[in-house]
Amino acid sequence: MPTSDPAAFSITVPQGPEARLRELEALIRRYDELYYLQAKQEIPDADYDRLLRELEALEREHPTLASPDSPTKRVGGGVATEFGSAVHRRPMLSLSNAMDDGEFRAFDDRIRRFLDERAPARGFVYSCEPKFDGLAMSLTYEGGELVLAATRGDGTTGENVTENVFTIKDVPRSLRGSRESLPRAFEVRGEVYIRKDEFKALNDARAARGEPTFVNPRNTAAGSLRQLDPAMTAARPLRFFAYALGDVDGGSPPRTQHEVLAWLAELGLPVMQGEVRTLTGVDAVCERYRELIDCRHELPMEIDGMVVKVDSLALQAELGQVSRSPRWAVAMKFPPEERSTRLLGIELRVGRTGAITPSAILEPVYVGGATVSRATLHNEDEIRRKNLRIGDLVIVRRAGDVIPEIVRSIPEQRTGAEREFEFPTACPICGSPAERPDGEAVSRCSNPVDCPAQLREALIHWAARNTMDIDGLGEKNVDTFLKFELIRSVADLYTLTAAQLADLDRFAEKSAQNLIAAIDASRTRSLDRFLFALGIRHVGERLSELLAKRFGTLDAVRSATHDELLATDEVGPKVAESIRAYFGNERVHALLAELDAHGVKPTPVLIAARPEGGPDLTNQTWVFTGTLQTMTRDDAEAIVKRHGGKASGSVSKKTTVVVAGPGSGSKEVKARELGVQVIDEPTFRKRLVLD
Ligand code: IVH
Repeated sequence: MPTSDPAAFSITVPQGPEARLRELEALIRRYDELYYLQAKQEIPDADYDRLLRELEALEREHPTLASPDSPTKRVGGGVATEFGSAVHRRPMLSLSNAMDDGEFRAFDDRIRRFLDERAPARGFVYSCEPKFDGLAMSLTYEGGELVLAATRGDGTTGENVTENVFTIKDVPRSLRGSRESLPRAFEVRGEVYIRKDEFKALNDARAARGEPTFVNPRNTAAGSLRQLDPAMTAARPLRFFAYALGDVDGGSPPRTQHEVLAWLAELGLPVMQGEVRTLTGVDAVCERYRELIDCRHELPMEIDGMVVKVDSLALQAELGQVSRSPRWAVAMKFPPEERSTRLLGIELRVGRTGAITPSAILEPVYVGGATVSRATLHNEDEIRRKNLRIGDLVIVRRAGDVIPEIVRSIPEQRTGAEREFEFPTACPICGSPAERPDGEAVSRCSNPVDCPAQLREALIHWAARNTMDIDGLGEKNVDTFLKFELIRSVADLYTLTAAQLADLDRFAEKSAQNLIAAIDASRTRSLDRFLFALGIRHVGERLSELLAKRFGTLDAVRSATHDELLATDEVGPKVAESIRAYFGNERVHALLAELDAHGVKPTPVLIAARPEGGPDLTNQTWVFTGTLQTMTRDDAEAIVKRHGGKASGSVSKKTTVVVAGPGSGSKEVKARELGVQVIDEPTFRKRLVLD
């Protein structure tokens, strides 16, 4: 999960919870989409669940910010589903992609080689169709009646959404024509989508009622289909296009893809025939691809590419499939969409670690399936590299769910009224000098203690579960305390009284007392949590633990020399420098003194004493290789560390001893070459007096 530097603080637009909420929505949607539409799982279930829970919690805390089509409202958002499942008679495959002409030619070559002498000399006949950007659906008709509608799911089994699909006016419940000529049962594959104009009308109506608007047609279509109440689905302008056959039982179905489309249309199913071309040879296909890119905006619905299918169903059958994609079809994806719009301003945000990041404020523009009104700019250099001036016409690019970016400005369109943007040399929030260390791209506010932007984020971090764990001190309370100037530093938290809180609207007597008790309880958190809570740059949760274990007390960490810090596991020069700089800062001295005066005294961590009887391995580095018989490698490394030594994964001149078990390979060879001592496991046990 991208933990973007410092949940942001902005001058003009409040960022915190809303930004995180939108970020989570986008992430979860992306994973849902991968999971449901492409059967790919990019993160472990546990991580997915954590994201979903975080989003649910944020939505509970800020109900007005919750999107109506939030992934949390969707049933089966990747967790459990309340719809029944439906097994597809024939699996629903996904398409492999071709990103340009060249990749399409390679596709054509591949199938040519595969079919060898059966490949037509004049080139394959291809059916070229728009790739609708909606949700894949499989409809099963039996005796001419719609009996099942199922989502793609994992390709083999989908969700039974028949009740909801019954509400889509485009989808006929009974097919036209005589029952006798129809196959007994067959699957129709197609896409559920929302037209662009109807999407806009839907959003306009919502906005007029003061309701949050939807992000884009595709997500809205997907969310609408997963509503548990069909009446909700019926209220959305869903439509359907049929584009293929699945399993066909009996009858005499057509023999080519273009005949399939004509046949489906005859049966009364909606088919987009106008934009479908049956073409021979690669050149014609590539030409049509470019044509479709040019006219995509004139189409009533979103399309994100062109699907190219071998027209002959007999050849399709011969070509078969590779893993989950047919060998006979490919999706020629469109390049990321680009639009021009006006750069209205550049906003600076200051995060928890003081990083000052610019972002572009744009005149809203619909690009790549969403309305974009801001774009990332990363840092000062990027503004210069892209030659951006406020007021410029700029080209904005967005592909899928990625964060929009400015590609470049269009200097030819300048009127002279544009302004150059001066990157500030002071923090835009507190006015302290901004520092940009040599070789770094980011400027930072030099006042880590009092800067309001950093302070807000620092307070939220201070109270978090894995730092000082102050139950009940969330963003809202932090904002309230800052607004009423009850606190001006982390240390001030410890001066708050229940009576002060009870004066605020947000608190009743009981909740005020609870929060004060929670703050009180945090006074004696362990040193590792305290170190992490301070928010020292480069010092995360794990490093805080390592530092606490190595130095034991806050004073010891504060006074540690550069070399002593370097001798700590996982501490390199950059981190050591950052720790030294932090504890060298006068404002930090004042903060720590104040915390101490308020009784915030982190509990020292017992430095693991060397076990009785064992050797002292200080300054030694041990490497374990091969299989150990009496313990795991982790255990063995822990034993070395308990004796003061270091464990490493690789052998070098500096290695003291290599313990080699059966199956050891190159590490043992290297050790012997370097003259490093190599011992076996029983010797290791003896040396460390384990037996
Ligand atoms: S044919 C074997 N035709 O694209 C695959 N798919 O990545 C048969 N899609 O999940 C699909 N427009 O939802 C086909 N004209 C079209 C399509 C189309 C959109 C979607 C479909 C599928 C995805 C493949």
